[in-house]
Amino acid sequence: MKTLLQLITTEMEEAFEKAGYERELAKVTLSNRPDLCEYQCNGAMAGAKKYKKAPFLIAEDVAQYLKESAYFESVDVVKPGFINLKLSGACAASYLNDMVAEAKLGVDDEEKARTILIDYGGPNVAKPLHVGHLRSAIIGESVKRILRYKGNHVTGDIHLGDWGYQMGLIITELKKRQPDLPYFDESYEGKYPEEAPFTIGELEEIYPTASAYAKEHEDYRDEALHATYLLQSGHRGYRAIWDHIMHVSVTDLKKNYQNLNVEFDLWKGEADAQKYIPDMVQMLKDKGYARYDEGALVVDVQEETDKKEVPPCMILKSDGAALYDTTDLATLVQREQDYQPDEVIYVVDKRQELHFTQVFRCAKKTGIVRPETGLTFLGFGTMNGKDGKPFKTRDGGVMRLENLIREIDEEMYRKIMDNRTVEEEEAKRTAGIVGLAAIKYGDLSNQASKDYVFDVDRFTSFEGNTGPYILYTIVRIKSILNKYRENGGEPEGLSVLAPENEYEKALMLQALKFNDVFEAVYAEKAPHKLCAYIYELANEFNKFYHETKILSEEDETKKSGYIALLLLTKRVLETCIDLLGFEAPERM
Ligand code: ARG
Repeated sequence: MKTLLQLITTEMEEAFEKAGYERELAKVTLSNRPDLCEYQCNGAMAGAKKYKKAPFLIAEDVAQYLKESAYFESVDVVKPGFINLKLSGACAASYLNDMVAEAKLGVDDEEKARTILIDYGGPNVAKPLHVGHLRSAIIGESVKRILRYKGNHVTGDIHLGDWGYQMGLIITELKKRQPDLPYFDESYEGKYPEEAPFTIGELEEIYPTASAYAKEHEDYRDEALHATYLLQSGHRGYRAIWDHIMHVSVTDLKKNYQNLNVEFDLWKGEADAQKYIPDMVQMLKDKGYARYDEGALVVDVQEETDKKEVPPCMILKSDGAALYDTTDLATLVQREQDYQPDEVIYVVDKRQELHFTQVFRCAKKTGIVRPETGLTFLGFGTMNGKDGKPFKTRDGGVMRLENLIREIDEEMYRKIMDNRTVEEEEAKRTAGIVGLAAIKYGDLSNQASKDYVFDVDRFTSFEGNTGPYILYTIVRIKSILNKYRENGGEPEGLSVLAPENEYEKALMLQALKFNDVFEAVYAEKAPHKLCAYIYELANEFNKFYHETKILSEEDETKKSGYIALLLLTKRVLETCIDLLGFEAPERM
């Protein structure tokens, strides 16, 4: 279905043409003077030079042909040559009723569905999930849902960090604590135990202990590096420990991501990419892309137009070990083979931008991906505490995700209990739902690339630009609709009517923007614009609610129009929060 801006732009183009001017001038936008009009066209100013005519006169010529249009309630020409428009109430209502009938509220599927891979989450196995990984999960999940809404084939891959030094550290520490385990007996040839020699709690303690110890003790660090090397070269016992680490951590990660309402289609990791490395390295050498630089194998990616130095992509260290660049390139080999994606999107901390510049250039230059494969880096900023420094616990440690979520949920629970509308049991459940919305909205309402301050008090507030405010608005609508049902009414199937007052019209105008807004959100992969949109929609609804008797309206037809508008507003809000990755409770 065409967006309303497209429809009225076409109407404007026809008027320009009838008046003898070129259609290209007829762009209509939302008004930047909402006190004067709802939409505007500035094309007459742009045409003045070409037609050697005062813009005001051009605008007047054009406006003549719009007077009859069913789209507009008023068409005003204002000096120096603006065409100011107000949408007719009947047109607004009819557009909204068309939206109701559409499966996706008027958003059309991409003409040709694209195959898109999205690399997000990126936790490191055996290290506790911390807030640094929260942004990737939240933003990635929302972008995935947005791309899917447009009918694309989108696959989310968590891309675990599961192949590094941390594995060697854990093996080394385990050997120190339990040297008698069969994994460390080089002559052992039997089957290894099915049960892991540690729980997730122990594993999470082992890693930081080993990591701190290695920093102080060189021989221990060397041992851990060697264990990493042995693991990567296929040591049987170490591989068995690795399997245990993976099983225990992935089980725990799945639980954590489920709590966040984040879902991955693929649980691949750096380890899965390793088998593609030998052939890839051979290809890079054979085709002459790679060269040796002080023993290391590198591919140059500097381009002439670069203002700054872009160092070469590192393929192999002088000791033959693969690196972060290597793994990401090999992962692209695998992704091309398995998916031939139109685009691969990486949702990663923006401090890794240089790494991705190198990898993307290398992959393009060496033909690891096809020339038309889109490689997109969606870098996000840092989540800071109120002091403006990266978010920490009260005693200065790294904040674990679980604790952060608990803190928010407890705050939400307190607020919900203060309202005293629900029982304790329900308040607990609701606090979880609203708490998640507080975190996600707090994050997504900022432009992803910017740093932001994680402010528990502000994010959990029921007022202002927050997740709980949006949910509160949805719950309010649900409650009105429920009362309407209790009194024997049926909200489904009613029609939105032409507005009776300015608040109703403002709400209608905001609701009918949905597909226009969505297109921008989609094109720019910008969930923050969806947040801005629903914040305004919630505001318009609440103004309307305070100014209008809805359920006590005596004119049944009028009332039915209000109810239809409420039902649609709820659907738009619920669709948007689903695209953002959270949901609303029944009550709060
Ligand atoms: N595990 C990495 C980290 O914690 C993020 C992985 C991002 N994705 C990728 N394909 N490199 O920094």
